[in-house]
Amino acid sequence: MGRILFTNRVADELNVHIASVEVPMRFLVVDKNSRQNCLSLLEGVEFLPQNIIEIGVGEGSKSLETVHYVWERLEQGGARRNSVVVNLGGGVVTDLGGFAAACFKRGVRCVNIPTTLLSQVDASVGGKTGVNFMGFKNEIGVFSIPELVIIDNSFLATLPYAEVISGYAEMIKHALLCSYESLDKIMQVDLMQVASPDFLQILRESVAVKERVVDEDPTEKGVRKALNLGHTFGHAFESFAIESGLEWYHGHSVAYGLIGAIEMSVLKCGFNRELADTIINYIRTIYPEYPENPTSEELYSLMLHDKKNDGNGVNFTLMHEPGEFMINSYCSKQEILDVLKIMQR
Ligand SMILES: NC(=O)c1ccc[n+]([C@@H]2O[C@H](COP(=O)([O-])OP(=O)(O)OC[C@H]3O[C@@H](n4cnc5c(N)ncnc54)[C@H](O)[C@@H]3O)[C@@H](O)[C@H]2O)c1
Ligand SMILES: [Zn+2]
Repeated sequence: MGRILFTNRVADELNVHIASVEVPMRFLVVDKNSRQNCLSLLEGVEFLPQNIIEIGVGEGSKSLETVHYVWERLEQGGARRNSVVVNLGGGVVTDLGGFAAACFKRGVRCVNIPTTLLSQVDASVGGKTGVNFMGFKNEIGVFSIPELVIIDNSFLATLPYAEVISGYAEMIKHALLCSYESLDKIMQVDLMQVASPDFLQILRESVAVKERVVDEDPTEKGVRKALNLGHTFGHAFESFAIESGLEWYHGHSVAYGLIGAIEMSVLKCGFNRELADTIINYIRTIYPEYPENPTSEELYSLMLHDKKNDGNGVNFTLMHEPGEFMINSYCSKQEILDVLKIMQR
């Protein structure tokens, strides 16, 4: 999956990695928040001011228009095939910057430095890059593995708590896919300490789960679908929030989606009821209440529009137990409505 470095000395590592690239050939993609909060940690790494490319904050700027802007800036800066694009930011910056780098001159060098928890454990690793298009998320993109990802959890010191728990949902997902032991460990995490050096090891273990799956199936023909655990129900909560103009986070939807997947696993795969309750109660203590009351029918119809479906019905990843998952588990409308009813209780 390319090289992934875990460190608390991000500037030193980046300097070593791009030492051979002349300063005018280095480009840095940031958004306003990563520029303000994170650029100082790259002190000592030289970029020309005109090669710092700032894009808009948030999902709205993950568009072809923004990619066009990045390409213009690369062109104006005289970027060449051996130039390096360093993406410093959350998943929006790494998805978009990665896509821009992968297409420019058919591909320039790319380094990701993720600065949100979500991008550290998920978005910046695995090679999926892209942008939203005509209202569809990640509709245009390519698989392109960055040559290096540098993960430094010191960046997380300035990350708002809501963003921390958003990324943390993907870590719970990884732990569920991995083992009882990982699950046990992840439920002990102190979410106030994500920027402390001890947390780096926890990040490393979480990313290793994604790394193993992606290495086996880089382009999501099979086992990589396991990483969609929680994302089928999650997709419905996320889409409903977007359509209703609610302020709600991807990872918060995933957390609710994990509850749905666990309930479905109890129903269909013999997942242990008591363990399910422990995990569900834990998730419920961390994440805020869903801000609206969509009907089960509304959520079901949103699930039908999930691009993970392939015409055979609604496609889930389910589990027999932590570490034992099944991809391509199709569930009936009645089963889905039953689970949504259980979740509402
Ligand atoms: N490529 C993949 O495999 C993959 C996987 C999961 C998610 N994603 C994508 O990732 C995106 C979501 O990622 P995200 O949650 O990182 O979103 P984001 O990039 O919008 O970052 C969230 C917010 O945190 C701010 N921020 C970034 N670093 C900060 C810091 N250190 N301190 C304070 N604020 C900071 C950002 O400016 C933004 O406001 C979505 O577009 C999603 O589609 C991609
Ligand atoms: Zn996700």
